[in-house]
Amino acid sequence: MLSSYRVSPGGRINGRRRVPGDKSISHRSVMLGAIAGGVTRVTGFLEGADAISTMNVFRALGVVIEGPTDGAVTVHGVGLRGLRAPAEPLDCGNAGTAMRLLMGLLAGQRFGSTLVGDESLSRRPMRRVAEPLALMGARIETVDGKPPVVLQPVPELNGIEYRMPVASAQVKSALLLAGLYAHGRTVIEEPAPTRDHTERMLTAFGVRLERQGRRVAIDGGQLLRAVTRIDVPADISSAAFFLVAATIAPGSNLVLEHVGMNPTRTGVIDILLRMGADIVAENRREVGGEPVADLRVRSAPLTGIPIGPDLVPLAIDEFPVLFVAAACAQGRTVVTGAEELRVKESDRIAVMADGLRALGVTATPTPDGMVIEGRADQAHVFDGGSVESHGDHRIAMAFTVAGLRARGSIEIRDTRNVATSFPGFVQAAQAAGIGIEEVSLP
Ligand code: S3P
Repeated sequence: MLSSYRVSPGGRINGRRRVPGDKSISHRSVMLGAIAGGVTRVTGFLEGADAISTMNVFRALGVVIEGPTDGAVTVHGVGLRGLRAPAEPLDCGNAGTAMRLLMGLLAGQRFGSTLVGDESLSRRPMRRVAEPLALMGARIETVDGKPPVVLQPVPELNGIEYRMPVASAQVKSALLLAGLYAHGRTVIEEPAPTRDHTERMLTAFGVRLERQGRRVAIDGGQLLRAVTRIDVPADISSAAFFLVAATIAPGSNLVLEHVGMNPTRTGVIDILLRMGADIVAENRREVGGEPVADLRVRSAPLTGIPIGPDLVPLAIDEFPVLFVAAACAQGRTVVTGAEELRVKESDRIAVMADGLRALGVTATPTPDGMVIEGRADQAHVFDGGSVESHGDHRIAMAFTVAGLRARGSIEIRDTRNVATSFPGFVQAAQAAGIGIEEVSLP
């Protein structure tokens, strides 16, 4: 039996809510806390399966971590050279961020380790990290570029200058972490700006980085000093489902509290505003080096727009739900330069196009994006029907939102992985006004 959702049509979104903690920041809080000297106390930690996988990996590396208890986690740092050889392969579960950042962190250790993941992670490309790490002197084996990843011990890594071929925060972060263990300076240049949580948090831990345009440099051997407190903001990638939900459901008025507003993450808001959404950031503040705001969103009519490569990395995880927004818009939306979507937890171009078409939307996948014909002029944008999430959390949540503008109920198959990034999603969606129930399907 497959855990699945059934979403009844219609509804409106109201109230105030805080979605769970930011996944990217939660992973990094444990990683940096672990290799720092001293104790780091984290609040607002994402108690989702992905961040828990990272916690368990560091426990296996000899780090004492308390929690999570109501989002509170205490990491007893062991220092840059304090990690211990693990007895068994390290299980990253569904978490690409965990595996790729760990490759960087573990490549320069004096002990070997093996990183494994679930079925989806085992299909994802790791060469993008393994190759530059090999240039630094790491000894890494993969199976045709895919996990499991075997890291052999090396005496030391060497700093390199590396121009990344893909705009990937995970690759950049892995190289920064490896750079800590390298002799000399590591310089990384990214083709387009990507999320900079690693840079911000390393700085908070007392590491000196030099940033110049799209280049960032780190000198090896720097010691991290524990940050006594990290307050993780709500994840804008989880908030995005409710931003779109309240926008497309007539009569909605919702406030999302304490949302992380790092400018390398807010592409989803820029795109929705360009499409005509009514989103206002209130009470802007800064928490632990990350900007935060409360977002008020009211329903609004949307217009289809072109979304080009410049906007893609800043909204990379939000495309599944942006495709749903595009289906509700007036006119055509054309997404280009988004080929990275094909190597996420699922092939998000193929899987979203299949699902949208199953619900009656004209959606044409392209090698690097999608063309969607908006159906704003129809009483119901989506037909009822059944869609496959392919075990991808963000696909499952995106089609849940589609239910608000559907003619009949939508069945979403295989939703177990929603818990990787958004524990309590069903309850949060129900409380906000979505008619969602959990069902078991053959
Ligand atoms: C992440 C970076 C992005 C994003 C992922 C989280 C991170 O991946 O899709 O969900 O925390 O660094 P890429 O670096 O592969 O684009």
